[in-house]
Amino acid sequence: MNKNSLLRIGDLSKEDIMSILHDAEAFSCSQSDWQFPRRTLIANLFFEPSTRTHFSFASAELQLGAKVEDFMAKGSSVEKGETLYDTVKTFESIGYDAVVIRHSEDEYFKQLENINIPILNAGDGCGNHPTQCLLDLLTIYQEFHTFEGIKVAVIGDVKHSRVAHSIKEAMDLLGGEVCFSGPSEWMDDVNNYKDIDEAIVWADVVMVLRIQHERHGESMKMTKEEYLEKYGLTKERHSKMKKHAIIMHPAPVNRGVEIDSDLVEASNSRIFKQMQNGVLVRKAVVKRAFGYEPFQ
Ligand code: CP
Repeated sequence: MNKNSLLRIGDLSKEDIMSILHDAEAFSCSQSDWQFPRRTLIANLFFEPSTRTHFSFASAELQLGAKVEDFMAKGSSVEKGETLYDTVKTFESIGYDAVVIRHSEDEYFKQLENINIPILNAGDGCGNHPTQCLLDLLTIYQEFHTFEGIKVAVIGDVKHSRVAHSIKEAMDLLGGEVCFSGPSEWMDDVNNYKDIDEAIVWADVVMVLRIQHERHGESMKMTKEEYLEKYGLTKERHSKMKKHAIIMHPAPVNRGVEIDSDLVEASNSRIFKQMQNGVLVRKAVVKRAFGYEPFQ
């Protein structure tokens, strides 16, 4: 495995995380107009649907001057039974310098030990989503200028969420606190569970999660309206948030289910800001994958 691969947020030290966030910020302030000094080919391999991650990686890569190819499993030799390893090895063999991969299998990258080019994980099953976590961290840092003592309430389908696992790991490392809330059957083996009404008034960041119907294998037992009332961010709960607290959501959003549709663009919502930050963080991460130093 290439040492510059990014597979899990837990593989990064506190210093690594802060360096990536600092570099992402430099791109945002136009302090850095860094570009690849030589021809660089990157393939984005998406075996699961994606809008934000896929196209913000593509946008970041193109803005850095890379040549980019977008691979979709549908219509490829994956349909003839080619394995993930052989697919990635093919991209390495035909001259690609790095690959970005999203795949439904937890820790799919364990089967890619013999790949020599950098692999950037764009989400593995219910496991990890390191660049989502980094853009969430950047959004929190821009707001509070620290992670120390910042309280994040992660609310919803925690069990199936790679975002929930990653943010808990990162905030523990950075000195923040995370609590979880939502239906008990979606709580996994989390500690620090709070009832939603308690979580809402406790948090500096209310991070609402999408119900991941595609990973459940059965339909939801309550209506959308019942879910919103019982576990979602309603207008009434919103009015009880701390004055300085912000709303985050990794998106895509099920409007009117985990969050009232009108709150998606509330003045304290940072949901679209998270998407903007996704491009900045992915610029920093792609640059790092090739061993280039962060902006000083
Ligand atoms: N947040 C996120 O990963 O969105 P996409 O599935 O659209 O990439």
